[in-house]
Amino acid sequence: MSELKVRGGARALAGEVTLPGDKSIGHRALLFAALCAPGREIPIFGLSAGEDNLRTRQALSQLGVTFRASADALHVRGVGLSGLRESAAPLDCGNSGTSIRLLSGLLAGRPIRSRLTGDEYLRARPMMRIAEPLRKMGARVEGADGKKEHEIYPPLEIGPATRPLVGIEYRSKVASAQVKSAVLLAALQADGPTTFFEPELSRDHTERMLSAMGVDLERLSLDPSGQVGVRIDPANFSGALDATELRVPGDLSSAAFVLAAGAMIPESAITVRGVGLNPTRTGVLDILRAMGGDLVVAGQRDQSGEPVGDLIARASRLRGTTIFGALTIRAIDELPLLAAVAAVAQGTTEIRDAAELRVKESDRISSTASFLRAFGVSVEERPDGLLIEGGGLLHAGVVESHGDHRIAMAGTILALAAPGESLIRDTDNIATSFPEFAKTLRALGATIA
Ligand code: S3P
Repeated sequence: MSELKVRGGARALAGEVTLPGDKSIGHRALLFAALCAPGREIPIFGLSAGEDNLRTRQALSQLGVTFRASADALHVRGVGLSGLRESAAPLDCGNSGTSIRLLSGLLAGRPIRSRLTGDEYLRARPMMRIAEPLRKMGARVEGADGKKEHEIYPPLEIGPATRPLVGIEYRSKVASAQVKSAVLLAALQADGPTTFFEPELSRDHTERMLSAMGVDLERLSLDPSGQVGVRIDPANFSGALDATELRVPGDLSSAAFVLAAGAMIPESAITVRGVGLNPTRTGVLDILRAMGGDLVVAGQRDQSGEPVGDLIARASRLRGTTIFGALTIRAIDELPLLAAVAAVAQGTTEIRDAAELRVKESDRISSTASFLRAFGVSVEERPDGLLIEGGGLLHAGVVESHGDHRIAMAGTILALAAPGESLIRDTDNIATSFPEFAKTLRALGATIA
């Protein structure tokens, strides 16, 4: 198991970097390119080499999809919905929640039997949230029992579907793009329209991409219960999506680590080029600004239906803030990092409405509280969030990642701000989303061994 030794203290970080492609968009680009017309080759530009995206690619290749790499793109040969073939071996989704949940939705309506599994962390993550709507649509979804009653866990058994799925109206208790995307992918295979509501708008890459690729999809503004929805009508769907190429912007969730380091470490100035700026993902930027962060967006442009821009972060004095409601959803993957920023900000930071953090790659409320305490930060753990006392003296710490890439990276960023040498343990998982993490920070001047 590898570890990182991080030298903290006042050394400024400076420079310009370009980061690998957005993980969420990468999964969707692979899946949706595979659903293009049989024989058609779709180049995907900017796909990350992170392990999570590779898991989706590997699963698709077990389902009969072929790939060809060129110098600047991965070319996916479409098979269309009906071209997916049964895999004799289970589809191993590794650590990737997005792979298992999106593939489940896709496979739910196919006349083939699928078995989907993952590593020990993924096998501890709840799957009833997708099983319930998919079963309502008539799909067969079975899972393993686990630590909670009425919950199921991977390995999952999906299908074979013996007749078309039925369109449903579904209200999800959680704002989750993985659940929404699973339902929308199943909805493409249904005999009528499907409507999906969620309590806040989760990331909407699936809606943007499916709509750009020819699917009849309508966004519904707030319904009387205060939920946001999307309606998909498969009547005109031929069984194949339509695209000539797909472009994946730089991953804001990876850029956030680098930008936060720039904001926290005195005299730093960092530019990250070509980052995705989808408004359902930019909560981290709004929160850093509310904390007094000096962030500039330049060269904003559109790329394959997603806003993209360059981001410049400079060090500034930071203060505590409150994160709740829609902002929590828009920054869901960045909350461990924002907790690290809160540790150096003056005053208290409160994170609320974030109970979903308990079922991510680790229990991120508890694993974030532990890494903060390792540096001497005073923090209170709550059922749905954290209360962090910022601005106290930090000391070097030993961080356990709990198998979670974002905890390992957030711990590394706080270690850069804490005097002395810190140790981040169990860091192999960083490769699931951002294999170039340590190299990127070193290029900006950080001392990480
Ligand atoms: C993702 C959705 C979010 C996010 C995850 C990626 C996606 O999860 O936390 O890292 O690509 O759809 P939920 O759908 O569970 O909120």
